[in-house]
Amino acid sequence: LTREFHTLGAALEGIRIQVDRRLEEILPPGDGRNGRLLQAMRHTLFASGKRFRPALVLLGTEAVGGERADALDCACAAELLHTYSLIHDDLPSMDDAELRRGIPSSHRAFDEGTAVLAGDALLTLSFELLAASYPEKGAALVLELARGAGYRGMIAGQVQDLASSGTTPDEETLRFIHENKTGALIVACLRMGGILGQGPGNLLDALTRFGRAVGLAFQIVDDILDETAEESQSGKTAGADRNAGKVTFPALYGLPKSSRFAQDLTEQAVRDAASLPYPDLLVDLARYIVQRTA
Ligand code: IPE
Ligand code: IPE
Ligand code: MG
Ligand code: MG
Ligand code: MG
Repeated sequence: LTREFHTLGAALEGIRIQVDRRLEEILPPGDGRNGRLLQAMRHTLFASGKRFRPALVLLGTEAVGGERADALDCACAAELLHTYSLIHDDLPSMDDAELRRGIPSSHRAFDEGTAVLAGDALLTLSFELLAASYPEKGAALVLELARGAGYRGMIAGQVQDLASSGTTPDEETLRFIHENKTGALIVACLRMGGILGQGPGNLLDALTRFGRAVGLAFQIVDDILDETAEESQSGKTAGADRNAGKVTFPALYGLPKSSRFAQDLTEQAVRDAASLPYPDLLVDLARYIVQRTA
């Protein structure tokens, strides 16, 4: 993090520590019959993730005037679900990735069946956690997360991503993929945060608009980093998208134009955040996302 992100850097570091501590309580290691499953669930969960989705939940709460502490378990639920999506995304039948978060992907460290089931278990646990931790708001949170992660959201994007591999990209399909496979969960995280902060409908709408712009920018940057980042930075195999014939922004527009898109979307997001009562850290996070190197 550069100097201008000093405050954000401290906030993200604090969030990472709190989220990891709480995740340790939620999912401690175990032995016996479930030992190997727990090991597999923890393998990818506790590798070096950036914890952006938890940050979006917590900063979403704060942006509408709520307390971060009230949203900690929801932030953990978002990370559990996100981690499942990474484990399944890496499977041989999907992106066939060897490396995730700087360590062997789940099916490489364990076996394919275990990776599928570890993903299933993390996905299910995320909803269990929302229901158990939020007796009053559980249903509203489950609704947001299920919509974002489900067949009209993240899964729709993942299906189109697979179907489009090896085809010539067009702008509309590319946007559909990115807005769904990545944007939908990012929007859900922000809205869950807003709900826990007691945000009224107009503020949830502002979080949705902010999330759409940030979500698309986030995935454009992910595509750019696939072509430009070292494996030691990203923790993923470099150049994987081009090798797999993925439909990406750099494939369609080249790197300079893709990076301009991401910057424009960030400025759009910053404008969308202006109607929130406490937008500062969210705005910093949006700007950081386009400058990140991992
Ligand atoms: C990777 O997400 C998958 C995408 C949706 C682009 P992140 O870049 O947030 O991965 P981690 O959580 O830091 O590993
Ligand atoms: C992944 O997109 C989106 C989800 C995991 C839902 P990518 O396939 O581009 O993510 P990485 O690059 O493997 O992290
Ligand atoms: Mg993928
Ligand atoms: Mg992938
Ligand atoms: Mg990628």
